[in-house]
Amino acid sequence: MNIILLGPPGAGKGTQAQRLVERHGMRQLSTGDMLRAAVKAATPVGLQAKAVMERGELVSDEIVSALIGEELDAMGSDTGAIFDGYPRTEAQAGSLDAILDERGRTLDHVIELAVDEDALVERITGRFTCANCGKGYHDTFEQPKVAGECDKCGSTEFKRRPDDNEETVRTRMAEYRAKTAPILPIYEARGIVSRVDGMADMDEVTAAIERLIST
Ligand code: AP5
Ligand code: MG
Repeated sequence: MNIILLGPPGAGKGTQAQRLVERHGMRQLSTGDMLRAAVKAATPVGLQAKAVMERGELVSDEIVSALIGEELDAMGSDTGAIFDGYPRTEAQAGSLDAILDERGRTLDHVIELAVDEDALVERITGRFTCANCGKGYHDTFEQPKVAGECDKCGSTEFKRRPDDNEETVRTRMAEYRAKTAPILPIYEARGIVSRVDGMADMDEVTAAIERLIST
């Protein structure tokens, strides 16, 4: 199964992708995570992407589509893919069609996480992740069960993203409205879009996604 999770910054794409990985052994393909890894490793892609990401603007279509192709090639052809934060432009949507086609994969669902933008700034500025395994948390909505200790791997190191400040979040949202929301009609025309209430409790969002993909 191949699924796109679509929604603005803070909609819960990463949170729900991690849960799908745990439940179904699918692979999360997050271009944001791939780019952050490239920035950390100071690769040529990372050096190009760093300032763009810090401003909250979009990295070039060529770079992200190449990353997606490489990741798909590195995983088994039987493993399902969850596209998290990709595609984000019409050009990327076109590239994804070609990338999937070349690998004999088809897109099963585009799940739109519908959210109220006003709530997203609070979600994003409260977000932190385990520095070791990447599990996501939130100051208010999802604290580790034992304070200061990751539920999944026990690490006591956590980190926050440099682009998770209010000013950058506003730019990221504007980019979403201008460039990403317009790709929805492409998938609506194919009849594969489902809308999930992303403002619901995290577990309810997960349950709604489970219902969708099991039909
Ligand atoms: P990326 O990493 O993709 O960031 P984003 O799209 O801005 O989305 P986020 O990761 O901020 O949000 P999310 O939907 O994953 O929310 P999460 O689950 O963490 O991209 C970063 C940058 O990289 C871009 O700005 C761009 O520069 C570049 N980039 C990446 N992909 C690109 C592409 N394809 N093309 C060009 N450039 C690209 O949830 C947020 C918080 O809320 C968490 O703390 C979570 O615990 C909490 N939460 C989640 N769900 C709920 C809920 N239901 N109720 C309460 N709290 C919740
Ligand atoms: Mg994310």
